[in-house]
Amino acid sequence: MQEATSSPKIGAKSMGVADRSTPLLRNYWYVAAFSDEISRQPMRRTILEEDIVFYRTEDGKPVAVQNRCPHRSFPLHTGRVEGDRIVCGYHGMEFNPDGSCALVPALNTAPKAIRLDAYPLEEDGPLLWIWMGDPANPDYSRLIRQEWCTSPEWTHVKGYMYMKANYLGLHENLMDLTHFPFLHGKWNIARPEHAAAPSKIEEGEGFIRQREVHHDVGMPPALVEAVGMKAPFDREAQHMVQIPGMHQGRQITTDASDPPKADEQHIIHIMTPETQTSTHYMWAMARNNAVDDEELSEQIRVVGEGAFMEDKVALEDIEELVARDHRPNFREKIIKTDEGGIRVLRMFARLAAQEQEGMQEAIAAE
Ligand code: FES
Ligand SMILES: [Fe+2]
Repeated sequence: MQEATSSPKIGAKSMGVADRSTPLLRNYWYVAAFSDEISRQPMRRTILEEDIVFYRTEDGKPVAVQNRCPHRSFPLHTGRVEGDRIVCGYHGMEFNPDGSCALVPALNTAPKAIRLDAYPLEEDGPLLWIWMGDPANPDYSRLIRQEWCTSPEWTHVKGYMYMKANYLGLHENLMDLTHFPFLHGKWNIARPEHAAAPSKIEEGEGFIRQREVHHDVGMPPALVEAVGMKAPFDREAQHMVQIPGMHQGRQITTDASDPPKADEQHIIHIMTPETQTSTHYMWAMARNNAVDDEELSEQIRVVGEGAFMEDKVALEDIEELVARDHRPNFREKIIKTDEGGIRVLRMFARLAAQEQEGMQEAIAAE
């Protein structure tokens, strides 16, 4: 593990940093949807540029198969689910959850040569994960389970936003708390002096973790009352990135009691690439205090959704401007507080290069 060195220098974003031209990472689990989005009604969602249809079998098991009918490319999500099969709305071909063909009505048979790609899925509480690599070899060590998801001691609020921007911008945005007092000024989440709080960054095999401490922060009054906390409050914010599709945040707020009381919250941000310029942005905020307080849940949801919407709009504005403005010599300027985000982009550039190398070797070996 290496500690970050802090440098006062201003640099330019350069080679070795993942961007819109970096191939999307395939050998990972991504959150495809919230579990409650998937029902007996077929649902279409494009992930890593692959059009996929989701539904549930009669006993509630989630299914994900390619949405493109192998016969005439008709979108299967416009068809129907019958029993455990999805039925194409054009000529009625039927497919099993494993992608195999169950029936071609015109031939009254089920040819082995006709089949759909099927995707490994894993349900973890409210999250439905999909493996986008080789379907025969899903790597479960890369599945980041959230223990709060399934614990009765925790409750959460969540939301989905469709974002017309590359997913990497969200990773940069989330490692950077310096934008809070400005982009999210109206929510009183942080004061301008919090922007200058120093960050501690650790980088190890397959992860980047960043921490910062803010003094005298705000707390929702209902939470203060539920935990019996005494102002002023200090907050340690922790950020962890291990896979391309998730940023895990953890906030520990301590008070002025002796000994100090603490409140812990998990905030996960899910960025599942639809394409290089569009992202399924999902988020969830979990707490284990005042879990039955629905009014508090609603307050947290309103602030979370309001602030995350500001990030989404900012990233969409950036994406639109970058697509429109062609300055051959333009390089974004990087300042010290961008270091966490830059490290994440470097990690993804390295992983993408390794993945491409592996694919080339596999092709050569065939
Ligand atoms: S296009 Fe689907 S059955 Fe013909
Ligand atoms: Fe933000």
